[in-house]
Amino acid sequence: MHRDDFPMLRQDIIYLDNGATSLKPQCVIDKMTDYYENYSANAHRGDYDISYKVDLEYENTRDLVKDFIGAKRKEEIVFTSGTTDSLNLIVNGFFSGLLEAGDEIILTKTEHASNVMPWFRVAGETGAIIKYIPLDDNNFVTLDNLKKVVTPKTKVISLAEITNVVGDIRPIKEITKFAHERDIFVVVDGAQSVPHIKTNVSDTDVDFLAFSAHKMCGPTGVGVLYAKYELMQNIEPMNLGGGMNESFDAPDKMVLKEVPTRFEAGTPNISGVIGLGEAIKYLNKVGMDKISAYEKNLRSYLIEKLVSIPHIDILNIEADSGIVAFNVDGLFSEDVAYYLNKYGICVRAGSHCAKLTKDVLGVANSIRVSLYFYNTESEIDSLVELLKDKDKIMKEMF
Ligand code: ALA
Repeated sequence: MHRDDFPMLRQDIIYLDNGATSLKPQCVIDKMTDYYENYSANAHRGDYDISYKVDLEYENTRDLVKDFIGAKRKEEIVFTSGTTDSLNLIVNGFFSGLLEAGDEIILTKTEHASNVMPWFRVAGETGAIIKYIPLDDNNFVTLDNLKKVVTPKTKVISLAEITNVVGDIRPIKEITKFAHERDIFVVVDGAQSVPHIKTNVSDTDVDFLAFSAHKMCGPTGVGVLYAKYELMQNIEPMNLGGGMNESFDAPDKMVLKEVPTRFEAGTPNISGVIGLGEAIKYLNKVGMDKISAYEKNLRSYLIEKLVSIPHIDILNIEADSGIVAFNVDGLFSEDVAYYLNKYGICVRAGSHCAKLTKDVLGVANSIRVSLYFYNTESEIDSLVELLKDKDKIMKEMF
């Protein structure tokens, strides 16, 4: 679908690494160029026309994000540099002041580094304890399994809606309902879900959500932190400086601006935020429901082809997202990726920044195909054709 919108697809490549970053449509590139060519002023600072235009476009994106994820107020949206930045702000700005020795943080072993490492550090600093939800036979999260680890000491559950290797779509709404009945906060890493499935934070009722623009047809270097308005008031800004203060007369006389401005110190990534707004308009036009349905079918097509190859071991056969992780028997994943690259096929190989996942998958490395709505069955045919012949892979992989 919509392949002509993407300049990168004019090249002779098959891009199957959308979990790492998506391609950018022309309209997003044009929108960002327009900013640099025609109204390249700072945001929230100038008293002249082009600066007002920047403010309008910048704040318009906040409205677009709010509607895109079903938030109630635009003040619940903070622009960050990406999912990693958002998660670090949640952990260090909110939970580090809340957690006490013995409190429990619940994660899964299939989370990305950005949803593990900040928690590891805060646990070290506060004496809180990290626990993992036991996974089912498919390495999926179930509510029943979550119930096995929650105790009266549990303060927070932090998990991806879709993980970047196993790719299961987690039952976030049920988890949140269960958690809130016990006064437990829910943090969602939406990096792999927001670009692919409809997100509605008012429906799922999550407390915090983090995601990145660059995996959803937007630019790199921009992300979003969503927090419920009343929780947002209690997040400590990590960066102090221009734009986020009302006044500062002495160390004990610093007055900060209201949320969300107090979290956006310094000159923000203006072109990036404006580009994100355009990406959201674009995704809305394509249709999030269409995107997820299309990817689901494409995934089934890929799985059907891969299962017929005896030397391919699929690691997440039952998952329902566009993420498919596999290995070629006896071969190192990065060597296979190198071989595919010779034919213009871009996949990711390795641990995919999810280094605890090896404990559940039993392998540290894999090849990952991650689909988006502009991928096609014929691209999958080309991939499968190359994977079929193991002798050829072995001959050509170095
Ligand atoms: N988190 C990105 C990935 O999974 C970079 O590839």
